[in-house]
Amino acid sequence: MPITTCIFDAYGTLFDVSAAARLAAEEPGRDNLAACWQKLASDWRLKQLQYTWLRAVTGDHADFWDVTQNGLDWAMEANGLDDPELRERLLALYWELRAYKEVPFMLAHLKAAGLNTAILSNGSPDMLDGAVSSAGIAENLDDVLSVQSVGVFKPHASVYDLVGKRFGCAKDEVLFVSSNGWDAACATGYGFTTAWVNRAGEPLDRLPWQPAHILSDLTPIPELAASL
Ligand code: LAC
Repeated sequence: MPITTCIFDAYGTLFDVSAAARLAAEEPGRDNLAACWQKLASDWRLKQLQYTWLRAVTGDHADFWDVTQNGLDWAMEANGLDDPELRERLLALYWELRAYKEVPFMLAHLKAAGLNTAILSNGSPDMLDGAVSSAGIAENLDDVLSVQSVGVFKPHASVYDLVGKRFGCAKDEVLFVSSNGWDAACATGYGFTTAWVNRAGEPLDRLPWQPAHILSDLTPIPELAASL
């Protein structure tokens, strides 16, 4: 089946999640963060994701905003950052993450080609609204789908089911795009055609499934969708 529907993960895929720590580190008086912002950003992201998986397997769901704060608290302590004002600043920046530079043109191209476009994210609807509006990409998204409506995080199949329910499409009409190797791999296992956006050149996750396509950024997505 040709691709009719392009679905995007949000954090790390459309929005640059490391930007919060990087931008805060550039602010005056942040010498403590400037020395370790990359490690903080990586610890924060990894703990945030680990907590989503642990909550999914234990059935103890929480709002992604709570999990995001839990991950930050672990990461700040691990990096010796005992600074409540910095914590608030990092969290505020997380609500206004920037989209990667190729995102607006790429989405406009997909819409001009008549494809359905949406976000499918662990993020809560209010977090996603904040990021979508600060990135200025709402006009080229048909919908923003949040796990909140099913009460479990990715990669639970009921999250991926939201796409077929919303667009009435078959799994093989969907191109699912994520910068998270595990998300792209699990979406392959679910039945979507997948693209892993591997900006950092990370190794392939050792899982039973693999992303169908591996890209270094989002620029080729319209061409890829048209070719399938
Ligand atoms: C999301 C995370 C996994 O947006 O990046 O769902």
